[in-house]
Amino acid sequence: MSDTHNSQNAHGGHGFETVAIHAGNTADPLTGAVVPPIYQVSTYKQDGVGGLRGGYEYSRSANPTRTALEENLAALEGGRQGLAFASGLAAEDCLLRTLLSPGDHVVIPNDAYGGTFRLFAKVVSRWGVEWSVADTSDPASVRAALTPKTKVIWVETPSNPLLGITDIAAVAQVAREAGARLVVDNTFASPYLQQPLALGADVVVHSLTKYMGGHSDVVGGALIVADPALGDELAYHQNAMGAVAGPMDAWLVLRGIKTLPVRMDRHSENATKVADMLSRHARVTRVLYPGLPEHPGHEVAAKQMKAFGGMVSFQVEGGEEAAVAVCDRAKLFTLGESLGGVESLIEHPGRMTHASVAGSALEVPSDLVRLSVGIESADDLLADLQQALG
Ligand SMILES: Cc1ncc(COP(=O)(O)O)c(C=O)c1O
Repeated sequence: MSDTHNSQNAHGGHGFETVAIHAGNTADPLTGAVVPPIYQVSTYKQDGVGGLRGGYEYSRSANPTRTALEENLAALEGGRQGLAFASGLAAEDCLLRTLLSPGDHVVIPNDAYGGTFRLFAKVVSRWGVEWSVADTSDPASVRAALTPKTKVIWVETPSNPLLGITDIAAVAQVAREAGARLVVDNTFASPYLQQPLALGADVVVHSLTKYMGGHSDVVGGALIVADPALGDELAYHQNAMGAVAGPMDAWLVLRGIKTLPVRMDRHSENATKVADMLSRHARVTRVLYPGLPEHPGHEVAAKQMKAFGGMVSFQVEGGEEAAVAVCDRAKLFTLGESLGGVESLIEHPGRMTHASVAGSALEVPSDLVRLSVGIESADDLLADLQQALG
């Protein structure tokens, strides 16, 4: 598996773990505090009109705690600029309104977070942006969906909730040929496991709510770009539109990121054990985990990811009611939306996170259960799933 990202030049020669802890986390110049303070402030005293200290004038435009997180995010993804938002969807909204104009066309995946689909289908489409759905795990399907007006190709890999894998480098090539920008939602992998910009993507999107925050205690989003001109344009729109990350939220994410590498290693180990157990269970008809050799995206995932992550989905014998019953019987796996925290979660995508795609090309199987495998003792997690499966 790839681990080229562990010592990239963009990180000044330091390993990923070092960058996660140190990038943006410079000691506070006033006190030497080793953790950046939470600058819970809206405005800044000016040294005479226009005499800004460190460029700070108003916290929608910039806030030192958010700056620390944005520097950290840019370093982790190997980008030139990071921008932190109030949620993943706020980041996506800012990106789409920056990149698209009426008449433009977007290719979206046939498997994506339901909220992302809803943003395209119910919000962005209302101001004259057209979209087509493609199977992004097949570059030929992406190519077939292009029109002369395609400006953006959107990819989520691994995808939510079907754990589909897209070959980022291959689709980046398609995007380049079409003169479109490739956006990769890296929420499921995190930059520790996957580096989309190095593989040719133009923009990385995150729901920081998930693995980056890592503790189910904050909602946030991010955009990271390699092109400084695009970074400037996005920063302009971020300020103009205003859905920025608050200082407390930025601080929580910055804190969470320090343990991202160790958490992702354990998430991946535990998820592998869970996927193995499920694939041998009599009541499970299909397991979706890119670490399994029989997963159709296994080889691509092994090429572009350091490990396979903490998300596992599976289908159960007995249809929708049986899937719902498994969710209801789980005890240690908490029944809830979201993912990526240290605690394990279980949910029924059809009725919960992906209810908004019902009846669309993105509809998910009704017998599907999604797990966010946490970092508890693996034996306890296996035992809980075994009792929940009955
Ligand atoms: C893959 C993915 N992208 C984006 C989002 C949206 O992020 P947020 O909930 O922080 O707005 C989510 C949320 O579940 C997600 O799973």
